[in-house]
Order: sequence, then C-alpha cells, then structure tokens
Amino acid sequence: MLAGKIALVTGATSGFGEATARALAGQGARVILTGRRKDRLEALTRELGAALPLAFDIRDNTAVKAAIASLPPEWQSIDLLVNNAGLALNTLSFEHQPMADLEQMMQTNNTGLIYITHALLPGMIARGSGHILNISSIAGSYPIPAAMSTAPAKPSSPSFP
Ligand SMILES: NC(=O)c1ccc[n+]([C@@H]2O[C@H](COP(=O)([O-])OP(=O)(O)OC[C@H]3O[C@@H](n4cnc5c(N)ncnc54)[C@H](OP(=O)(O)O)[C@@H]3O)[C@@H](O)[C@H]2O)c1
Repeated sequence: MLAGKIALVTGATSGFGEATARALAGQGARVILTGRRKDRLEALTRELGAALPLAFDIRDNTAVKAAIASLPPEWQSIDLLVNNAGLALNTLSFEHQPMADLEQMMQTNNTGLIYITHALLPGMIARGSGHILNISSIAGSYPIPAAMSTAPAKPSSPSFP
C-alpha cells in the first residue's frame, strides 16, 4: 500500500515512533529512522531492511539541517513526516517543575518539531505532495491533575486535611 513511499519518523528508537516505523515498513514504505541513540537506530534498520538510520538531536537546528542535507539522493523525496519525538519528564505541578525539564520538553516537543518540519516542508511543496502527521498528547490540551502530582508534600498543618 505504501510501496515506493518514503517516510521519516522522528523518535524511532522506542515507543510509538519505533512501532510506527515498523508499521510503515510493514506497509511497504522505506523508512528514515531518527533519534539520538544510534545503536537502536542501527538495530531497527537491520531488522526492517528498507530503512535508513539518521541520528541527530532534534533540539539542534544545525544538526537537523545537516542530517537532512546528508540524505542520499534516493532518500530525499520524503512523502510522509511523522513528528513523534517528544517526552514528558515529570508530573510535577508547574511551579515545582525544574526549569531544565521545562526547557527540554519545549525544545524537543515544540521547537524540534518546527525545525524538522521547516527542513522538509519545502520539498513537499515543491513536489506538490506530502503528508505530515503530528503526534501530540492530551497533556498538551489539559493539565495533569494535581492529585497525580509527585510534588513535594505540603507542610503539615492542623487545618489541612
Ligand atoms: N506514552 C504515552 O502515554 C504518550 C501519550 C500521549 C502522547 N505521547 C507522545 O508520543 C510521543 C512518543 O512518546 P513515547 O511514549 O513513545 O516516548 P518514548 O518511548 O520515550 O520515545 C521518545 C522518542 O523521542 C526521541 N527523542 C527524545 N528526545 C529527543 C531529542 N532531543 N532528539 C531526537 N529525538 C529525541 C527518543 O529518541 P532518543 O532518546 O534516541 O533521542 C525516542 O525515540 C511523544 O511525543 C509523546 O509526547 C505519549
């Protein structure tokens, strides 16, 4: 069904991205596998066969552009971009979140998506075809209830139940 198509999956070293890459390959697509863990990318490439490992940190726009520029000609006409790379580092309420965690989540989930999309969309427009699938989370629409938070315990107080 996807024979002859090329897909690029971000965050293909585990979880949804890895499963998506397997599913796309199962449908006959050639799949560019991305993520930072090169060993996992190479193992999945060996398993899938018609795949290409492309290791980079999606938070680094220079690395993103260099990785896309390094694609062999026969891998450059990408038909499908699956924006999957992302993470949720903790369930703390906002005021308890370490700034480093907030920065990593924003730079990966949001800015990284912008970098890779900006690198690939012009080619799709020039070819007059292409699809982009963005994987989000319900946590992007609704806050995780404080009851689930692992925030430091509130100071005990006789009036606090
Ligand atoms: N699991 C859930 O319950 C759930 C629910 C809703 C939405 N989601 C969304 O689904 C997506 C995948 O989640 P998952 O549960 O499958 O997570 P996962 O197993 O932890 O996989 C995350 C992927 O993102 C990649 N990644 C993280 N930081 C990166 C970076 N700086 N540069 C390049 N790649 C990076 C990781 O690769 P490397 O570590 O090799 O770089 C990994 O392949 C995320 O966007 C997440 O928000 C997940």
